[in-house]
Amino acid sequence: MPLSAAFTARRKAFRAAVLRFYRRHKRDLPWRRTRDPYRILVSEIMLQQTQVDRVIPRYEAFLARFPTLGALARVRCADVVRAWLGLGYNGRAVRLWQCARHVHAEHRGVLPRELQQLQRLPGVGPYTASAVAAIAFGAPVAAVDVNVGRVLSRVFAGRDDLATARVHALAHAVVPPRAAGEWAQALMDLGARYCRARPRCAECPVRTMCAYTHRYRSAIQRGRKGAASDRFHGSNRYYRGRIVRVLSTDVDLTVRALGRKVKDGFALSDVPWLLELLRGLARDGLVRVLRDRVRLA
Ligand code: ADE
Repeated sequence: MPLSAAFTARRKAFRAAVLRFYRRHKRDLPWRRTRDPYRILVSEIMLQQTQVDRVIPRYEAFLARFPTLGALARVRCADVVRAWLGLGYNGRAVRLWQCARHVHAEHRGVLPRELQQLQRLPGVGPYTASAVAAIAFGAPVAAVDVNVGRVLSRVFAGRDDLATARVHALAHAVVPPRAAGEWAQALMDLGARYCRARPRCAECPVRTMCAYTHRYRSAIQRGRKGAASDRFHGSNRYYRGRIVRVLSTDVDLTVRALGRKVKDGFALSDVPWLLELLRGLARDGLVRVLRDRVRLA
């Protein structure tokens, strides 16, 4: 399907802002200092269900113990599970070991580059396969987990709950073909820092082009204005206050001059309304109206 000019313009601005942010502010993480496919695979499997801070020391210890895919394939499964303890979801250790054995036996110990082949490895789902393809091999594919899906859904559709199929279509349409690895990790950082479940739109580097930020902001503004006008702004109470404030500095005004000072667009048709307010203020002992002139009592 051809993409609209509006979408491609938006995509261009979004790509530029996201990559600029990442190149300036990316988190310095150990798996970002390598392109070794085995190391990227280990990081992605660990990061699937465990937070970055907890992964870092375990990742480094794991790779010190099993520095290559061959080293992992040669040990017993129980050794890998033991090295995994503390990370949780220990089934991941078994699957990673199975994957290493499989690659050792079927691919001469070399992780395949093709997305389809990666997806067929034991324990490697669509997300992990795409992440490894993009980050280690630079393949122009999108790695979409829940956090990345939320970023894209918010930026382009202004909502959190875009259908999975649409999120995937969007993710594939926006990935920059020559920077897919950086892109995958840039969206992860954007999600981790700003586009959280409770978003931090005010500081987000893509806020100017984000549909969600616009909706969110205008809802806040509507809320503020609405609350003000419903409860106070434009109400008689509001204008009574303004009249007293104006008369405290402009001590003696004609009714019409006072009207122009207290109400934008004051017209002759507003005079009866203003006189009614002044009668109320006079009854309360706050102002005096003498013929056409008004002053504080
Ligand atoms: N979560 C999943 N993959 C990640 C990565 N490469 N960097 C940071 N967080 C991640």
